[in-house]
Amino acid sequence: MLSMAEQKITTAIIRERKITGTKITMLTAYDYSTALALDEAGVDVILVGDSLGMVVLGYASTLPVTMEEMLHHTKAVSRGTKRAMLIADMPFLSYQISDTEAMLNAGRFLKEAGAQGVKLEGGREVAGLMRKMTTAGIPVVGHLGLTPQSVLQFGGYKIQGKEDAAANRILEDAIMIEDAGAFSVVLECVPASLARQVTKALSIPTIGIGAGADCDGQVLVINDMLGIFERFTPKFVKKYCNLNAQIKDSVRQYINEVKSGKFPEEEHSF
Ligand code: KIV
Repeated sequence: MLSMAEQKITTAIIRERKITGTKITMLTAYDYSTALALDEAGVDVILVGDSLGMVVLGYASTLPVTMEEMLHHTKAVSRGTKRAMLIADMPFLSYQISDTEAMLNAGRFLKEAGAQGVKLEGGREVAGLMRKMTTAGIPVVGHLGLTPQSVLQFGGYKIQGKEDAAANRILEDAIMIEDAGAFSVVLECVPASLARQVTKALSIPTIGIGAGADCDGQVLVINDMLGIFERFTPKFVKKYCNLNAQIKDSVRQYINEVKSGKFPEEEHSF
């Protein structure tokens, strides 16, 4: 049983945060041990992002990530998540081909993997699908701005919504997503002024990543904020520690100690 302080985070609690002005914290996780740590530390929402493809599986982008890979990691994260709300990212082409396939795939995250909702990239083009999902009882998080599954169309990982027309389109998309029943929306890599405008216009919370301080919450990729993933660090990431360096130092020390006979000692032996 969870105590009141450990109350399970639900869509109602996330929506309520907009009214009370209490910031929402979201981080990604891809495995059981990390999920346990994030949950025990008190993060509100754990996202099994399709960033999995880049920071865990070593793909060049999120495009190759499959449903089976997402389900496998969501199941692991689910086993370590008690209090936080668990959201799974729908991977590229798992929801764009037909609404029927999309509904079945979204359902798998809830029925097989223990997620409490799904996240989809896109605005007006997925609003009809989001309506079907939310009507069927599947909680949905939207994702606007720099949507990494469209990287080839964008021609790189670039800030979105800088021009007036593009900014207006993102604002309209956000309103359509809200109308379709999404309970929150991620805004990625958009000017802080646009994120502020969208946040004011919506009654559902915005969760920013590279979208300034005025969103209703913030999300980061755990491997970035812990300094594990060094291949590329976007400007919007704050590294709270440098685990990559610590891992390398520890491994070097282990190698030296094994070679010199310092490890294992008496206390490590039977
Ligand atoms: O895949 C992911 O990790 C995401 C977050 C960056 C929001 O979509």
